[in-house]
Amino acid sequence: MPSLDGKVALVTGAGRGIGREHALALAQAGAKVVVNEIVAAGGEAVANYDDVSDFGAAESMVRRAIDRYGRLDILVNNAGILRDRMLVNMTEDEWDAVLAVHLKGHFGPTRHAAAYWRELAKGGETLHARVINTSSPSGVFGNVGQANYGAAKAAIAGFTVIAAQELQRYGVTVNCIAPNARTRMTEETFGDLPPPEDGFDPLDPANMSPLVVALSADEAQEITGQCFFVWGGSVNVLRPWEAGELFASDGRWDADELLAQLKERFPDGAAPEGMVAMMGKAGGQSMRVA
Ligand SMILES: NC(=O)c1ccc[n+]([C@@H]2O[C@H](COP(=O)([O-])OP(=O)(O)OC[C@H]3O[C@@H](n4cnc5c(N)ncnc54)[C@H](O)[C@@H]3O)[C@@H](O)[C@H]2O)c1
Repeated sequence: MPSLDGKVALVTGAGRGIGREHALALAQAGAKVVVNEIVAAGGEAVANYDDVSDFGAAESMVRRAIDRYGRLDILVNNAGILRDRMLVNMTEDEWDAVLAVHLKGHFGPTRHAAAYWRELAKGGETLHARVINTSSPSGVFGNVGQANYGAAKAAIAGFTVIAAQELQRYGVTVNCIAPNARTRMTEETFGDLPPPEDGFDPLDPANMSPLVVALSADEAQEITGQCFFVWGGSVNVLRPWEAGELFASDGRWDADELLAQLKERFPDGAAPEGMVAMMGKAGGQSMRVA
């Protein structure tokens, strides 16, 4: 695996699940890891218990890594919660809590780490810094019952693209992953897919972490602004919103004409395929094995 010797990483929400595996994998690759929750087994680590959605606490988290180890190289924004509900029944609290932990919980640590990296770059240091965000198939493909969560996760994918463009000049890459794993968060979804008795378990949360280590390597300096779907052994670099089906007119469209054109071009309508269908496409063989 690539050596991350001498690098310092901060992983949010690393108490269990995917974040814990990221912390362990980064430590195994040689990084010193600061986790906000528990001390990772193996490697050197310090822990804190701050809430990622609190802007001040996010600053303390970043500061603690720098104070403890003298620097910060890698930020993995991973902490998250679910408050699933159909839109018509969703409460304001359920909306706010999910947006706060995911979206603001990505903004705060990234904002404070980025300000620190900008100062280093301005001081003449050549950086190989990393932000690795956590989106979701729910955000990039859309999943019923997750308007709050999917909106936050889609926003994280958008935030990744913009942060990548803004921070490239300082030597910081920003990417995101759309993971799939059996954790406390997804035990209902993947509960009917128990781990195999032997052999490769496509839903082991540790399958998400080699990508985090790879993206953290200095050699990945030119890979930024991407969203990676991960399922078992499949890593799919997703295409973002891209130029699609063009309806061009010499001037302003007449609504009647435009409607007629839309109906002609989409005789069967146009609607999202849904998360499960898209996950199958993105995961390919590996997903069918599961
Ligand atoms: N498991 C999957 O299949 C899957 C799919 C898509 C996205 N994700 C995303 O992956 C990330 C990790 O999820 P997981 O599956 O490991 O779930 P998990 O519930 O096992 O872990 C989430 C972690 O985030 C922490 N956390 C929650 N709120 C926090 C806060 N305000 N401040 C600090 N920490 C907080 C929790 O304590 C926990 O340790 C999440 O962002 C989740 O949305 C997971």
